[in-house]
Amino acid sequence: AAIGSGTQGSGDHWSSRTAFVLASIGSAVGLGNLVRFPAEAGANGGAAFVLFYIFCVVLIGIPLLLSETLIGRHGQAAAPASYRKMAVESGASPKWEWVAGIGVFSSTLVLGFYCVLGGWVLYYIGIFAGDLVATGISGTAFQGMSVEAVEALFPALIGNGPLTVALDVAFLLITLAFVARGVSGGIEKAAVWLMPAFFVLMLGITIYGATGGHFIDAANYLFKFEPEKLTGPVMLAAVGQAFFSLSLGMACMVTYGAYVGRDVNLAKSSGIIAGSDTLVAMVAGLCIFPIVLAAGLAPEGGLGLMFQTLPHAFQDMPFGSLIGLLFFIMVAFAALTSSISLLEVPTAWLIDKFGLRRIAASVIVATAGLVLGVLSALSTGMLSWFHPLDFVPLFADKGVMDVLDIFTSRLTMPITALLTCIFIGWVADRRLVDSESGLGGGAHRVWRFLVRWVCPVALLAILWVGLTS
Ligand code: PFF
Repeated sequence: AAIGSGTQGSGDHWSSRTAFVLASIGSAVGLGNLVRFPAEAGANGGAAFVLFYIFCVVLIGIPLLLSETLIGRHGQAAAPASYRKMAVESGASPKWEWVAGIGVFSSTLVLGFYCVLGGWVLYYIGIFAGDLVATGISGTAFQGMSVEAVEALFPALIGNGPLTVALDVAFLLITLAFVARGVSGGIEKAAVWLMPAFFVLMLGITIYGATGGHFIDAANYLFKFEPEKLTGPVMLAAVGQAFFSLSLGMACMVTYGAYVGRDVNLAKSSGIIAGSDTLVAMVAGLCIFPIVLAAGLAPEGGLGLMFQTLPHAFQDMPFGSLIGLLFFIMVAFAALTSSISLLEVPTAWLIDKFGLRRIAASVIVATAGLVLGVLSALSTGMLSWFHPLDFVPLFADKGVMDVLDIFTSRLTMPITALLTCIFIGWVADRRLVDSESGLGGGAHRVWRFLVRWVCPVALLAILWVGLTS
């Protein structure tokens, strides 16, 4: 049978609009905002990247977010069945469900490496917790350790196969514990407790960081207008980052949309979700850079920003070990609500398609995530010689973790997003789409224009540049 031919879904729903919005913000806000966004902005000269990023969220992100949630809400079923339902009701081929099928596949792949990164965050929670016990509540972090020794913690971690695998498993099990309990019983609970805690922590750490005296420098760095820095690669990085950050192109927002009741205004919710996610990305910059600048360090790019530069910066700060601990707890909360959404996408599909019980479905997906996770975790250490797709130029010299990342971010995610725009903008029955969108008059025309023309062109450009550079 074709994938996603079921139409019943799991029957589970969010208990309120707030729960839906918080869970979606939880999915969107994650390592993308906290690790990747500041690092990308740092590597790409700050302002140019940030301003273009905001532009992408408004013109491409929000229209797509509305398109995805709308398909899910109309279908009230797992992502493939939801695409299928809308396609069939529009007189189009049921094969459109494959667009969601690609998304389901992508989210499984991303789950695989995302939990490895989540495991790294757990490691730093452990490190700072130990440090706090050793130095007391007001101590600076890593007393008596040289800068080199602090920065060496990270290569030592990712080179340690058994440890990274154990941490990956831990993170995956925590994720599973929530998803196995269902939408309103588990996923929603995580969002409703962890997201507010996340916001409080983030605000507190940002205010604390500002006391170091470099807040204005950081803001200048992030928002100074420098159009000459807006090169092709910077634009590509920004638009790709916007997609990943908003959890688009992975059937994720379709899945979350399917648990939404008829009374919810999806356009308004999409705006709130995208706005919050973007705000968090900005505040992440305003949280991290003042701390880094106050320590006299350069806001460089890459994973080193969070896992090396920042720990080193906490080394010089009063209450450094406490703030470091709270900081990484905050990151873990954000990562967890995202990995939960990644696990939920294929789980919902298995429940829908094969009539599995949720517990069985989520364990199966977690097992797939485990296999991919172990390979990813080892790819930064003892399996670093293993380049599975070496014969494809795009993946030459890349280990498993990088292959999964490149494959999804440059290929499957933009393809799913592109086909989704075409589906909503050109294929789906217009009255059907209109009745779900919650938009009226002028706003509706603007949205429709963006989905039909602007988003597909932008996505084609992303695909082109991503595959040829
Ligand atoms: N949006 C998440 C982040 O920024 O970290 C990652 C993510 C979650 C991407 C869920 C895609 C997805 F379906």
